[in-house]
Amino acid sequence: MNAAPEFQPRAFVPGPDNTRLLRDAFGRFATGVTIVTAASESGPVAITANSFSSVSLDPPLVIWAPDRNSRRFPHFESAEHYAIHVLAADQDALCFATAKNVHALLEHSHHTNAHGVPLIDGCLARFECRRVACHEGGDHLLVLGQVERAVLRDDGDALAFFRGQVRKIDMN
Ligand SMILES: Cc1cc2nc3c(=O)[nH]c(=O)nc-3n(C[C@H](O)[C@H](O)[C@H](O)COP(=O)(O)O)c2cc1C
Repeated sequence: MNAAPEFQPRAFVPGPDNTRLLRDAFGRFATGVTIVTAASESGPVAITANSFSSVSLDPPLVIWAPDRNSRRFPHFESAEHYAIHVLAADQDALCFATAKNVHALLEHSHHTNAHGVPLIDGCLARFECRRVACHEGGDHLLVLGQVERAVLRDDGDALAFFRGQVRKIDMN
């Protein structure tokens, strides 16, 4: 006879009374962590985001989802050009600073591309994008971008987001 499992899965129908549980269930999907940057009238803007996903190789397409309820949403909804930075494990401080402060890059060294988009060095990968479509996604917006230029590193550990926590992944 099989022993009873230690933890019983919790089943639920998503609704207004259990959004916390749905958020927790979504959080069981381990992701990397990115910083999305754009130019704005008030200077370089950035946001920490784990909603990034690769979509297509040909053409090269990626997606991410800004939250409509975020104060910084208007910057990212209007940005025709932006960059997505896949963070390395040693960039955790920048990850937290950017989650707190849309202008965190003002205190972090960066340079800009021909479209004025702020670029951060030291990431595992970086994708300079042109927005090609936006789709409704409930309380988020789905932003699809074409990758116009990319860089990647062959070394470095990853930063991951799992169960609501940012963690360093040591691949050794
Ligand atoms: C690991 C992590 C992942 C996040 N992913 C997203 C995301 O995909 N989309 C988003 O809009 N905000 C995301 N956020 C929240 C933003 O980084 C930021 O904290 C939020 O926009 C702050 O609210 P404000 O813009 O109203 O100040 C994430 C935050 C963290 C720490």
